[in-house]
Amino acid sequence: MDKLVIKGGTPLEGSIRVSGSKNASLPILMASILLEEPVIFRNVPRLRDIYTTNKLLGILGCPAEFEGDSVYVKPCDLNPEAPYDLVKTMRASVLCLGPLLARLGEARVAYPGGCAIGARPVDLHLSALEKMGAEFELDSGYIVGRCKQLTGAHIRFDFPTVGGTENLLMAATLAKGETVLENAAREPEVIDLANFLCACGADITGQGTDVIRIRGVERLHGCDYRIMPDRIEAGTFMVAAAITKGNLLIEDCPDDALDAVSQKLRDMGLSVVSEEGGTRVKYQGHLESTDIVTHPYPGFPTDMQAQFMALMCVADGFGMVEETIFENRFMHVLELVRMGADVRLVGRTARVRGGRALRGAPVMASDLRASASLVLAGLAAEGETHVQRIYHLDRGYERIEEKLCPVGADIQRVPE
Ligand code: EPZ
Repeated sequence: MDKLVIKGGTPLEGSIRVSGSKNASLPILMASILLEEPVIFRNVPRLRDIYTTNKLLGILGCPAEFEGDSVYVKPCDLNPEAPYDLVKTMRASVLCLGPLLARLGEARVAYPGGCAIGARPVDLHLSALEKMGAEFELDSGYIVGRCKQLTGAHIRFDFPTVGGTENLLMAATLAKGETVLENAAREPEVIDLANFLCACGADITGQGTDVIRIRGVERLHGCDYRIMPDRIEAGTFMVAAAITKGNLLIEDCPDDALDAVSQKLRDMGLSVVSEEGGTRVKYQGHLESTDIVTHPYPGFPTDMQAQFMALMCVADGFGMVEETIFENRFMHVLELVRMGADVRLVGRTARVRGGRALRGAPVMASDLRASASLVLAGLAAEGETHVQRIYHLDRGYERIEEKLCPVGADIQRVPE
């Protein structure tokens, strides 16, 4: 296993390019299962979860190969089973459920376990698919689903689930009749998936709002599609500029998908301005803390909560962080405290007292965004920080040290 060794204290300056979105790539790659023709995806990030998805697609009968930053998928004879040894490494594997039911009328998907940040149930996915005519049973840890022909339904989600919206969006494209998804997720990655499906001949309207309408079609064809940039990677680099008191141009930044994050950075005293080719984040001499409450899009994203907490640790004053989406997304707190942060947890709220310097220390990554938080803290800390178990980080960030070094970070990947 590798670790990252970071010597903090250098303001980051220059430009840094955002890769394709992990959370758009995963459902969009899975949607290949719906197609009866080859498809090409551009701007796909080389991440562990993407390699896992390509491997799963191969097992399901859709061989997927990287060439540069493109992935070529050639749907062939489908196989309905997503095996446990793959699903246990990536929860998002459950996104093959809707497409398999839509194309094959059957699916056998290992029940996705929880992860460090929470139980992550899929009850909303299953109950919605049942409304479209699917029947499920749990057999030896596998979700076994069957339906002769999915039929359109009027579905209202109890919670705007991102994965649930994506699974139903895909399933409904080949269903008989019209499906309405109410209280649907509005995340930009859901919009990207819907736009991809429309490029393949699907009939979808309302993506980006909380009511999405899908009229089923007979078949979907292939296309050549560019994945949107990763808004969470972009937000992470914005915080990197802020926490090191630097000045970074974030290239290919999806700034229209980052309003809540940009506004919070401005509230803290940063300059955040769109320029030719990207968005510039610049320290302007002071950092005031703020309050964060995570919400479904367009609210403040839960995937940026850990990164912002690191920034609040070094800003002046008090800040409150309330995590409303996941029940256990404060795994970074105790590690930040090891670096000298003053963070007190009360239930799903953290009180962050800033105005103090962080000090480098050996710390342990526990989940993807907690890892990013520790890297950011290390960039600001006095002395050396060793971030261990960075396989968590590699799930969502493409060789982050190779992106940070050219803008001044003293960071290297070494065997643990
Ligand atoms: C997606 O997860 C993202 N993952 C997550 O990003 C992100 O944090 C999350 O959306 C919220 O924005 C991908 O897109 C691959 P949800 P997902 O269904 O689809 C509960 C990252 O760091 N829920 O919106 O699993 C669930 O337990 C990852 O990149 C149910 O109760 O999120 C959670 O508390 C982490 N029943 C909440 O809803 C269900 O059937 C949000 O879940 C489904 C969800």
